[in-house]
Amino acid sequence: MVEWTAEERAAIQGVFNKLDYESVGRESLTRCLVVYPWTRRYFGGFGNLFNAEAIMANPKVAAHGIVVLQGLEKALKNMDDIKNTYASLSEFHSVKLQVDPVNFQLLSDCLTVVIATRLRTEFTPDIQAAWQKFLAVVVSALSRQYH
Ligand code: HEM
Repeated sequence: MVEWTAEERAAIQGVFNKLDYESVGRESLTRCLVVYPWTRRYFGGFGNLFNAEAIMANPKVAAHGIVVLQGLEKALKNMDDIKNTYASLSEFHSVKLQVDPVNFQLLSDCLTVVIATRLRTEFTPDIQAAWQKFLAVVVSALSRQYH
């Protein structure tokens, strides 16, 4: 089981408190689709993902960005059992969507970049360390049904 210190819990909760799901979700997913263009293939039903402008303006990307952050909030609320909390979400991404699990890390990195642009100097090395530990546990739990 993953252990969390009180400082880590406070840091992760603190990051969530400052996130605007709508803009951060959309921007993180947009960055992922632009920086790693092969990730677009999983979103065939989303319409125009031709370039950064189209992706940024795509309402399905915006809506899905919120869905992803709400999914992360579920992990936040179940920090001591992310593995089981994500069992069905992992199965959905592997069996149904067949998302290559390396992409979980890529989207996570895009999210961290966007958070850094929002929090700026408040995103201290210690806060980033706690945040990335949280995302590492999320990525591992999402990848679990592939093993
Ligand atoms: C759907 C979360 C990474 C592709 C979803 C859903 C959630 C979610 C909560 C909705 C599930 C449902 O409808 O029951 C996450 C989280 C991720 C992540 C927390 C990592 C931090 C990825 C990545 C890809 C991806 C990296 C592909 C590159 C999809 C697709 C759907 C989906 C295609 C279905 C979208 C639709 O048709 O509405 N994801 N996801 N996900 N995810 Fe992920």
